[in-house]
Amino acid sequence: MGQTHSIIKFMKNTDEILMNTVISTALKAGDILRTGFRQRFEVEQKSAHDLITEYDTTVQQFIVEQLSKAFPGAGFVAEEEHFSTKGDPLLVIDPLDGTNNFAMGIPQFCVSIGVFTGERQPKAGVVYNPVLEELYHAQVGKGAYLNGEPIHVTQEPLKDTLVATALPFKFRDKVDWITQLLLHVYPEVMDIRRLGSAALDICYTAAGIFGLYFEYGINAWDTAAGVCLLREAGGVAVDFSGQPYDPFTSKSIVVGPPAHVERVLRLWRESGVQLEG
Ligand code: IPD
Ligand code: CA
Ligand code: CA
Repeated sequence: MGQTHSIIKFMKNTDEILMNTVISTALKAGDILRTGFRQRFEVEQKSAHDLITEYDTTVQQFIVEQLSKAFPGAGFVAEEEHFSTKGDPLLVIDPLDGTNNFAMGIPQFCVSIGVFTGERQPKAGVVYNPVLEELYHAQVGKGAYLNGEPIHVTQEPLKDTLVATALPFKFRDKVDWITQLLLHVYPEVMDIRRLGSAALDICYTAAGIFGLYFEYGINAWDTAAGVCLLREAGGVAVDFSGQPYDPFTSKSIVVGPPAHVERVLRLWRESGVQLEG
């Protein structure tokens, strides 16, 4: 707790008040998740293959309350049905990314908050993994950081990297298609990982831990904060058809260093497999 919680005291100028508040809210929200992890809590089926715990709703409520108080004009797009998209800043929140992991006792989950100030692309992003006490943050033009240290996408060749993805567990009719895409990538990389938190997958790519991440069926709350981090770390984000990733409309995402993203898009195009954004 010590290291991550002390980062905010270094942020002083007016431009960073928003960031400061979002970071301190994410840290407190993460503390709530850490306290509840592997304890007894309510779990329900949200939809087929998708769980919801009492922590998804409690932590979302906490974040929205804190940020509404700090920014009375703010709008919210939050996963557990809280939409008031008219405000500025617009805060795009996943209170618990990796719910199925959290519910099953797997310590790979996070809080994710993306900040928009008028445009369709995030101006800032904060992702906090409370188990590892890893705080990722970025603001456009100011770099991307893990616990205050700058991070960058990998410079290793794709063949020497781990690549993260997911089967589309909420869109089972797409599994064959995604498996085809995966099979075209697999021979070109060291190995594949499916860790269960899209926001952390993107942050790990920003930090050079993964050489690439792709997934179909993600939402703005999964990706907004991570995409800001990724771009500030030197990466690019596109959809499966190669168009720039739009958190509010794209259904698919590919992120990584520009050369790796380009390579995988080329492999897919040459394979003739269908590519939808
Ligand atoms: C999910 C996780 C998972 C990804 C799904 C997301 P949730 O978010 O990020 O890794 O594969 O696409 O919906 O439901 O745990 O917040
Ligand atoms: Ca999510
Ligand atoms: Ca969630």
